[in-house]
Amino acid sequence: MGKNIAVLVSGGGTNLGALIEAQKNGMFGDSKISLVISSKPDVYALERAKNNNIPSLVLARKDYDSIAAYSKALADTLENAKTDLVVLAGFLTIIDEQVYERFPNRILNVHPALIPSFCGKGFYGLYVHEAALSKGVKVSGATVHIVTPECDAGPIVLQKAVEVKQDDTPETLQLRIMQEAEWVILPEAVKLFCEDRITVKDNKVYID
Ligand code: GAR
Repeated sequence: MGKNIAVLVSGGGTNLGALIEAQKNGMFGDSKISLVISSKPDVYALERAKNNNIPSLVLARKDYDSIAAYSKALADTLENAKTDLVVLAGFLTIIDEQVYERFPNRILNVHPALIPSFCGKGFYGLYVHEAALSKGVKVSGATVHIVTPECDAGPIVLQKAVEVKQDDTPETLQLRIMQEAEWVILPEAVKLFCEDRITVKDNKVYID
């Protein structure tokens, strides 16, 4: 049976765009992006949802007193929408274990580096690429992993390496990693989930 996919965003939503394209190309079969939730109003990701007739809503962090209250509201919203899979696609708001516990092995996150490099607290967006460039790594890339309470430490579903160029800036590296890795492996991981091909054992992902 087709699954309901909820995509959580906080910004431009280029990864959401890649998922919408994949859906249009039939990659997800009967499954569909049934809801987009943004932690910020007025972001371009919401336009992308609207332009593609995907229901969307804003759940703004500033409207809640605590991370716990925000997380409960988010988990309730996802459950009420009968969500099967939650995709964090550039969702930059901290949520707590309530969400992870209510959606065990059903939350995917895309991270713009090869985990366990340049990940964990404080590593998001351009900061990740700044750190990679200041270390002087010759390859970086992207990782799609299952979200668990420990930040960026959940089982890895897919990774793709991308060459770092000598004259890269955080912006050029970010764009190349998006184009060559994130926009490729995120739809691929969602497809694997929708086809029930992901199994987690001993904190590792096995793909059937
Ligand atoms: C992406 O590069 C994503 O990997 C990153 O934020 C960007 C969002 O772009 N996520 C993180 O850094 C999470 N730790 P988008 O809104 O255009 O998809």
